[in-house]
This record gives sequence, C-alpha cells and structure tokens, in this order.
Amino acid sequence: MNSPCPKNIVEKVTEVGSLPQTLAAVLKVINNPNSAADEIADTISRDVSLTTRVLRMVNSAQFGRKRKVTKVSEAVIIMGINSIKVLTLSSSVFGMVTDGEFFKKCNIKRIWRHLIETASNARAIAEEIGYKEPEEAFVAGIIHDLGIILMLLYYREEYLEVVPKMGTDKEGIESAERSIFGLTHGEVGSAMTSAWKLPSNLTFVVENHHKLAADIIAEESALNNIVALADRLTIGPFENYAPDIEKNIEFVQSACGALKLSSEAVNRIRKESILESIKLAEYLDLDIGDILDILTEANEKLAELYFSLEKIYVEKRNLQKRFRETATEPVHH
Ligand SMILES: [Fe+2]
Ligand SMILES: [Fe+2]
Repeated sequence: MNSPCPKNIVEKVTEVGSLPQTLAAVLKVINNPNSAADEIADTISRDVSLTTRVLRMVNSAQFGRKRKVTKVSEAVIIMGINSIKVLTLSSSVFGMVTDGEFFKKCNIKRIWRHLIETASNARAIAEEIGYKEPEEAFVAGIIHDLGIILMLLYYREEYLEVVPKMGTDKEGIESAERSIFGLTHGEVGSAMTSAWKLPSNLTFVVENHHKLAADIIAEESALNNIVALADRLTIGPFENYAPDIEKNIEFVQSACGALKLSSEAVNRIRKESILESIKLAEYLDLDIGDILDILTEANEKLAELYFSLEKIYVEKRNLQKRFRETATEPVHH
C-alpha cells in the first residue's frame, strides 16, 4: 500500500477550507481576541444544528446541575469562551460524522462511547482531586482522540488497516499508526487543535494523553494526566485495542500517584462511569450501543481486572516469601 506522507496528512487534515462554512465563521470570531461574548453567541446561533449540538454539549458538561442552559449566550457566559470554542469544534466533529455511510466499516458507537466515558471519568477525577476547572477536563476528554476521528474521516481505508494491527501485533495503537502513517493520532489531532488555536493545555493533552507527563509545566501535565488516566479506565476506541492488562494496572497506579488519587476513588469512578456515560449519551443524542451489551462487557472487564490483580498479589506474596527465606538462610563460610 502507498502510505500517505506524514506532512501531507497534517496539511490535508488542517486545511481550514475543509471545515464547514459556519464553523469557519465561528472560528474567525472566536479567535479574534476583540470578539465580545455575545458576538460569538450570535455567530453560533445562526446555525440551528450547531446551536443544538453546542447546547447539548454544554448541558451535558453541566450534567447534574439544576438549571438547563437554553441559550447560546448563556452557555458562553457559563462555560467561558475557551470551553465554548472547544465544545463548538468538537460538536462540529461529531456533526461531521453523523453520515452513516462514512463509518460503515468501523464501530463508531464504540468510539463515541470511548470519548464519552473518557470525558465523564476526566471530570470525576478532576472533581476528586480539586482540579480548578472540571469542565475543562470534560472537554479535554471529549476531544482527546480527535486525531482518530480525523484519520477516519480523511484516510479511512488506510486507517482501517491500523485497527487490526493494534491487537494482533500487540503493538498498541500508537506504534501501529506509526508503522502505517509515520505519525500518531496524537500528532494529527494536535496539529488540528493548534491550527484551530485551541488553548495550549488542550493541544498538549491531544498530543500526549498516552503517556504520563512529568512536571514540565505543572498546569498542562495535571490536565494531561487526568485525561491519560481517564482514558485508561474506559474501554478502548476499538475492539482490537486491548493494552496488556498488567501494564494497564501499572499505568493506572503511576497516574494515581502523580495525581494523588486513592485507588478507592479510582474504583468508584470506574464503576460510576458506566451509568454516567449511558446517561450522557442519551443527553447528547449519540448512539453508543445496546445498554445490556455495555453492562455485560463492563462486568467482564471488572472480572478480568480482578483476576489480574489477584495474580499480581499472589506473585508479590511468593516473592516476599522467597526473599524472607533467602534472608534467613544460614550463611556458610
Ligand atoms: Fe488516544
Ligand atoms: Fe482515547
């Protein structure tokens, strides 16, 4: 197969001309530092379907609060210009792929579910650790795998070759992508978010959410690590994508350490996220699949996790036992 060249991919994907007209107009107003909040609201309001999606997103980000937001102008004030910008853009991305023909060969329901679960987990983690803007974490969760959606939109045939590689070669998503495209969904997504001039901490998350960031810039690494952990607590975006469960446990433990989050809290968030995501999907009017299937799969995943943890525990105990035995063995001269 002739793989597209990385530079062309980024150029093609970030071409602003490929954005719908309203979105281009919204982007122009939003990126102008002199734009007033009502001017932004006004531009969004001109497009009925965009307005509906933005309000749905805002209300789901506000999920659990008593009052429903019904006007874009209100939404801009509540969420702040930066979040509105991201929500507008990500709802446009959701909007781009409502066309059923587009995703016949891949399970889009699973991708939506992955994004929603990640967003809901990210907000719960943010709230738990007292991160200053839980909504920002929610938005970052929605947008973190933007690169996957863009690659499926513009290079679907090629990207569908990446999908089976994630499982069979046990390479993981990023190295499977690199072997076919020469770049990862994080790089594609962050090229897009930089072109959209999204806040730098969001671009950082889009690019780096598969690793834990050390404290390069405290602010950005906190948001990145929140989303990185949130991402690992969900089902992956593809059936084939199944990172090694023991490595996953290790990753979750380091993330908890970095974020100073207890394992009890993580387990609670993990459990709550399934129901929360089902509710969120209903709210956003996104089809994430059959509820019974989702619950069954969640149960299987928890059982798998339990057995792995038990295995690790037994290994650790045997190791300690052997260590004690060697330590107490008499030394012969
Ligand atoms: Fe990702
Ligand atoms: Fe992800």
